[in-house]
Formats: sequence, structure tokens, C-alpha cells
Amino acid sequence: MPVINRIAGFADDMKTWRRHLHAHPELGFECHETAAYVVDRLKEFGIEEIHTGIATSGVVAIIEGQGKGPTIGLRADMDALPIIEATGAEHASTAPGRMHACGHDGHTTMLLGAARYLAETRNFAGRVALIFQPAEELGGGAGVMVKEGVLDRFGVEQVYAVHNAPGIAAGTFMTGPGPVLASDDTFHIHVKGQGGHAANPQETRDPIMAAVGIAQALQTIISRNHYARDEMVLSVTQIHAGTADNVIPDTAYLNGTIRSFVPEVRDMAKRRMEEIVKGQAAAYGVEAELDYQYGYPPTVNDPDKAAFAAEAARGVVASDQVIFRENREMGAEDFAYMLQARPGAYMVIGQGDTDGLHQPGYDFNDDIAPLGASYFVRLVETAQPAR
Ligand code: NI
Repeated sequence: MPVINRIAGFADDMKTWRRHLHAHPELGFECHETAAYVVDRLKEFGIEEIHTGIATSGVVAIIEGQGKGPTIGLRADMDALPIIEATGAEHASTAPGRMHACGHDGHTTMLLGAARYLAETRNFAGRVALIFQPAEELGGGAGVMVKEGVLDRFGVEQVYAVHNAPGIAAGTFMTGPGPVLASDDTFHIHVKGQGGHAANPQETRDPIMAAVGIAQALQTIISRNHYARDEMVLSVTQIHAGTADNVIPDTAYLNGTIRSFVPEVRDMAKRRMEEIVKGQAAAYGVEAELDYQYGYPPTVNDPDKAAFAAEAARGVVASDQVIFRENREMGAEDFAYMLQARPGAYMVIGQGDTDGLHQPGYDFNDDIAPLGASYFVRLVETAQPAR
């Protein structure tokens, strides 16, 4: 059973929606124009129950099927990134410094495609909740929606999301049981020493040496404190200090990220960072403060729902285009908050050999939008068949 014919029939419309969204990217929670565009399309499809302003600019729309039944949630993210676009495409961003470089324009389009089909056919029992969220890239819009009670309010019992993947053959679906994406905690370390003339370091307490010492020592959390079988990444991504060749500065800053799949690992990392920062500061004769921020939790698929999602994908593409296996990536995704609250699965769909996510040359592959929409539809019609 290939891509749903009716959806293939309006693939050109989907391309139009996607390119419009691409040309008008918005950031974070402020996805108001995107939300308005989504609402206009949903109304065109004959969908009456539309709730706006959730998590600032999120939209939840309900499609009633045939007869009573549970509610299944389908989620798409709408926000873009602060990147200067370099695709040269006709539909390139018209907003300087903003760009749909993660394909959320495509995700929104896939869910709109599914919405159009489901509103027309209503060949399912119960209800579908279409969840369009802002602030996936920064701010955790999905978590805010959960906190605002979206899943309870609309009685959502299971949730699903799709993300495109460059570097995987176009139309290949991939998911697996358990953790699929990591948590992403961040740390900021402020080192305060005593600056002075670089010719007289003996009169200073050099924050740069301390910052470098801290950066080196932090890596021992991975090599000495961490259980090797649990994946973990600790990257120092920024060190800032100084203004001149001949001046030792007063302060230095280090920032970075910690990725893992296990809550205990995150707590261990925080505890060891506190100890190392304190110890290194004492060793170098400076003061240092750690600000550890817990970010998105790991994205964890329900094993049964993930298997079910793979089965739904097999209803759209050939079986050998559906990969189902344990597969952990160190990236992060705020859909994790929805999967903490409800069972469900995160599905990846290959978009072929294109520039990578978050790259200025990236563009969503319009050819996979009908596949993603068909997958959403199969989920609904299989999970909640019309009687
Ligand atoms: Ni993304």
C-alpha cells in the first residue's frame, strides 16, 4: 500500500504551503504568522474546532471521526532558526537572519496534508488532535504545551511526531524502541581572577589558566566518573576571555553542553562539575561559579508504540524502507516532554542527500511531504479504525 493517492493528488498544494512557510520563517514562541497561515488552511479543510494561542502561538485543532473513541495526538513544530539562508532558492527566506534550516516548514506541511485528508474522509473513530507547536529549537514549546494541560484538555492518549533526516535515503522511515534522542543540558562557568600586566603574571590570578584547567578536568567526568555503557557527551563549546595581547584579564567564561539518556547521568555530571569547578578554582587561586541548566529530557519512545509506528510506515512505503531498531542520536528534541506525558513515538523520515540540519544551505525536500502526511494518516486509521 503506497503513499495515499488522494494525498499524492494534492502534493502540489503541499509544496505551495511549504514554500510559503519557508519564505516566512519565525523564531521561538513568536510563530504568529505561521500559526495564522495554519489556521487559514485548517478552516479551508472544514475543520471547525481550532484553539489558538497555546504556548503563545501554538495551535491545536480537533477533527472528529466516526463515533466515540479515544484521541490520538499528532505533533508538528513550526519554528525556524537564527541563520542567514544561503540556498539561493526562489522561496528563500524573506526575513533576514531567519531561516527554516531544520525543516519545520516541512513538518507543519506534512501535518496540514494529513489534516486535509482526515477532515475529508473521517475514516476513523474518536478524534485526532493536530498539535502545531512553536519554540522547538529554543524554549521547549512542547513542554510548555504539556504544562498548559493540552494533553489532558483534549484527552490525548498517545502522541506521534516526525522529523526529516538529511543523509538518509528519501522516503526511508526510521524509528526504534526506547531512547532515540538525548537530553541536552547546558553549563555556564564564570571564572573570576585578578587581571594585570601580562609581563607580571606573578601579580595576577590568571582566569585563563583556570578556565583551561577546568575545561581539561571536566573531560575526566567522561573518562573516570561515567559508566562506559551509558552514552554521554560533554563538550566545552565556548571559552571567552581577554581583550589584548599584553593584558591578563579579570574574568573568563566557559559554556558547553552535556548529552545523555539517563537521569542519573545528568545528576552525576552536575555534581561532579560542581566539585571540579570548585577544586580547580582553589588550585588556580581564583573564584569560579557553575550555572548548570537542565535542558530537554531524553526522547524516549514507548516500545509498543514505536513498533506500531513502524507498522504504519510499512503501510506507506516498502518494508525494506522502514528501519526499526535501537538507534540513539546525541541530538535533542522537545517532543521528549510529550513522550514523558503520554506513550508514543518519534519517527524519522529520510530526505536524501542534502545539506545537513541547521546548515545555511539546507532545504526541506518537498518530495517526502506526501509520505509524511500518509504516515500520519495511517497511524490514525490503524490506531482508531472506523467501526
Ligand atoms: Ni528540528
